Amino acid sequence: MTAKHIMTAAVALVLAGTVTSLWVRADEFTKKDLARWQNEYMSVVKKGRDLWTSPALGTKGVACAQCHPNAANTHPETYPKFQKQLGRVIALREMFNWCLTHPLEGKPLAFDDPKMIAMEAYVTYERRGVPLAPGKH
Ligand code: HEC
Repeated sequence: MTAKHIMTAAVALVLAGTVTSLWVRADEFTKKDLARWQNEYMSVVKKGRDLWTSPALGTKGVACAQCHPNAANTHPETYPKFQKQLGRVIALREMFNWCLTHPLEGKPLAFDDPKMIAMEAYVTYERRGVPLAPGKH
């Protein structure tokens, strides 16, 4: 190692230390923060449950819950995975849209639509504790 290499390594170490300490500081939170985040999370889960059990997303008077009561047979823990309906590896949200546009005959949702996020929150909450099994059938 030349002196130049040693200097470069030293500068890199100092920079890495600064970034790490900033990141650690930014990550501090209080019990009050945690309680607020949990409340917000559960209110989104509840919105998702309301959407799941409502026929309003489609045009056939059918709700997701009729075929997937309590998010049954949605298997969020297996995504992303190959789905034959779309012929490629897809995200869970794409399968939500497949059911939205097929059995429900409704319009697809944008992937960042708050309704999409709420339904994903509901489904994954129902399946909490299930080990991840991406790609599994
Ligand atoms: C009329 C019955 C029916 C309704 C209503 C329905 N689905 Fe489905 N859903 C299916 C069928 C059939 C499949 C295909 C199963 C497969 O290919 O493994 C499926 C598959 C899925 C999957 C993938 C499951 C897996 O194992 O990978 C998800 C996620 C899903 N539906 C979400 C929804 C959502 C969200 C709604 C409401 C917008 C909904 N479904 C409404 C019948 C339905």
